[in-house]
Amino acid sequence: MRIEDPKFVAALAELDIELRSASSLTELTSLSIGGVTDLLRIKKHESIPGLLSLLDSHDVPHRFLGGGSNLLVSDGELPWVVLQLASADPDVVLEGNFAQVDAAADLGRTVTYCAKHDLGGMEGLIGVPGTVGGALRMNAGAYGMQIGSYVREVKLHRAGTRRIEILSGEQISFEYRHTSFAPDDMMLAVKLELPSKPYKEILQGIRICNEKRRSSQPLGQKSAGCIFKNPPGASAGRMIDELGLKGLSRGDARVSDRHANFFVNAGKASAKDMLGLIADVRERVHSAFNVELEHEVVIWA
Ligand code: EPU
Repeated sequence: MRIEDPKFVAALAELDIELRSASSLTELTSLSIGGVTDLLRIKKHESIPGLLSLLDSHDVPHRFLGGGSNLLVSDGELPWVVLQLASADPDVVLEGNFAQVDAAADLGRTVTYCAKHDLGGMEGLIGVPGTVGGALRMNAGAYGMQIGSYVREVKLHRAGTRRIEILSGEQISFEYRHTSFAPDDMMLAVKLELPSKPYKEILQGIRICNEKRRSSQPLGQKSAGCIFKNPPGASAGRMIDELGLKGLSRGDARVSDRHANFFVNAGKASAKDMLGLIADVRERVHSAFNVELEHEVVIWA
């Protein structure tokens, strides 16, 4: 979708929104899949209510993009514009055991920055790509921990009230890869409370998680992490593997040889290829195990 009306373009500039015309979502997602649309970069949180009113008054639908690392976007000309927060500088501010983190901050860099200041707890998240906002929205977790456990406050733009609000950790429910935020709520910043730990000890934990991840996940390849959620008490990856589906492909979309719940883009896969592969694997798991796998990856179709 293109924004061409000069009045609209001028109103965006007034709100300090950067318009990047005809942006390709292949460059904004870790899967390197997705069509083309206008990208609106938000430099100041305060401009969000004005931006949303502007989009509404011009009947321009939108989607909100984080780091693009858990996302599968459809091909071709996309029927909505994409909003993305530009990162603040600095994006992490520490005070005692609290870390005030901008939602656009890179998750891995945040974990290491806190570690260097003797704040631990998030070792398991090292190697999870994406932004802190994205991790927060879906309660990212690994190796027995989840980010939600450390959240004390969240600054967000609420879809319901159309205002910027601050919620306390107790007002939010964090479950397995799920939170109580509304789909259109925009994460803006988070206050984490992290346990004190000497850097050396945190580093050891980080090394162990890195090693585990390297040995079991296709890190150097284009993927969106796990495609399906684990059903209660079971592992989607193990089920897909047991069916002998590693290496199964549609075009350049392929079930990873390393971890069967990672589907990789081995070249120039289209969303159609990837969606077809996902549907195929889901169907086969259903026939074999009578289990309906739920998508973990977010699909913008
Ligand atoms: N397994 C296989 N074959 C495979 C993959 C896994 O047999 O192809 C077996 C493993 O040997 C192991 C079991 O399945 O016995 C579980 O595998 P793993 O330890 O890799 O964990 P997972 O349940 O597949 C979950 C998360 C990952 C997270 C890891 C580590 C989900 C859907 N996946 O994977 O998160 O990194 O644990 O904590 O919750 C993600 O969210 O995108 C993600 C990758």
